[in-house]
Amino acid sequence: MAADRQRADKLWGGRFTEGTDPGAARFTASLGFDRRLWAQDITGSIAWAAALRRTGLLTEDERRAIVDGLHAVRAEIEGGRFPFRPELEDIHTNIERRLTELAGPVGGKLHTGRSRNDQIALDERLYLREAVGRIDEGLRRSQAALVERAEETVDAPMPGYTHLQRAQPIVLAHHLLAYVFMFQRDRERFADGRARADVLPLGSGALAGTGFAIDREALARDLGFAATSANSLDAVSDRDYLAEFLSAAAITGVHLSRLAADLTLWATAEFGFVEFSDAFATGSSIMPQKKNPDVAELIRGKSGRLAGNLVALLTTLKGLPLAYNSDMQEDKEPFFDSVDTLEAILGVLPPLLASLTFHTERMRQAAGEHFATATDLADYLVRKGLPFREAHEIVGRVVLHASRSGATLEGLPLEELRRFSPLIGSDVKDALGVEASLRARAVTGGTAPAAVAQALATARALITPP
Ligand code: ARG
Repeated sequence: MAADRQRADKLWGGRFTEGTDPGAARFTASLGFDRRLWAQDITGSIAWAAALRRTGLLTEDERRAIVDGLHAVRAEIEGGRFPFRPELEDIHTNIERRLTELAGPVGGKLHTGRSRNDQIALDERLYLREAVGRIDEGLRRSQAALVERAEETVDAPMPGYTHLQRAQPIVLAHHLLAYVFMFQRDRERFADGRARADVLPLGSGALAGTGFAIDREALARDLGFAATSANSLDAVSDRDYLAEFLSAAAITGVHLSRLAADLTLWATAEFGFVEFSDAFATGSSIMPQKKNPDVAELIRGKSGRLAGNLVALLTTLKGLPLAYNSDMQEDKEPFFDSVDTLEAILGVLPPLLASLTFHTERMRQAAGEHFATATDLADYLVRKGLPFREAHEIVGRVVLHASRSGATLEGLPLEELRRFSPLIGSDVKDALGVEASLRARAVTGGTAPAAVAQALATARALITPP
């Protein structure tokens, strides 16, 4: 008797004589994570009911009864009154079952010509569309916060690094804007992926196409899709739209992580370039003096799972025969986790950036130390006609000499400099300062304040709200 009731709960009870093992039911259930697709599932069902109506499979009264029932289900879920039943496997079954309870047997007509295989593919694409919108806005706000800090620091010199060794002076705005342009490409990657996912899978049925004369183009229009899938096997079995999303998310995570790593490094006593506000730092339970950059560290840390989620999905899909396989149910947790992780990071990053205190005096001082303008001395000699390789060699010797005597390049007397090359004249002093070094890099994309001001204008145009 109990088994009968259990079988009757299932969408596929007819063929079975035994109920599902409770452990197996728990193991296969997806409700715990796919319930967040409820709104997309209802949207898809309302459109599907209209499509069934257009083919004459539903009367107008039936369609209306179904749509009213779906609205009632939506109200229950929104009001926290919906009786979620894990034993009903997934969100699709939960909604359909409740619809039938509320609207009567007509609810049983909704699934005509539809499969959970094309249904889930639809739900995911609808969800992706909205998630990308939110992530784009989070990235835009992060860019805006960086641009704002860049506005203040176009003339603020700091050391630029390669190999984490002081290399050449740059301005702080230049460093910050680098991330604005990375985030821009991230936004473009998400938008590209969304455009490719803008294809209606519904009407593909389980795998071979629905058996009813559904007007899929009208359905695509109703659901706001740009196109209709051309191959039903492809439509129900590929998850490349999720892989693209997760790939864009993983790359974005790398950018976020590097920004967080820069800030964490700059906040050390050794660098002393930046201080986090109390609101975005935490203390130590044992060391009273500590101020830890936890938020930045966790931005860096959480980006690891963004990479992991991409690998998880690709590994799950690889080697699956066409068309649908239950393995594909495993696509949702990595997808949702990356959405949540990115949204969480992008929620906290803009205010964190806004509340940083940059120690620009300390940066300015560091920018001039450790022979940061050695390249400028070599460039000076090149301007006097020396081949760059020779100039490089000469300046290398100057640096060796100066470092032995504890002098700076600017501090070396002219006569001493001239011992290395007679081409060096009194005008060399103009080339060796930090400001001169910066000014010299006025190419498009360079760190000269004038060039950075131009990049800033480009960046500003990227963050105009939609
Ligand atoms: N929960 C399933 C998934 O997420 C929905 C599609 C199930 N289809 C099936 N025939 N079991 O992939």
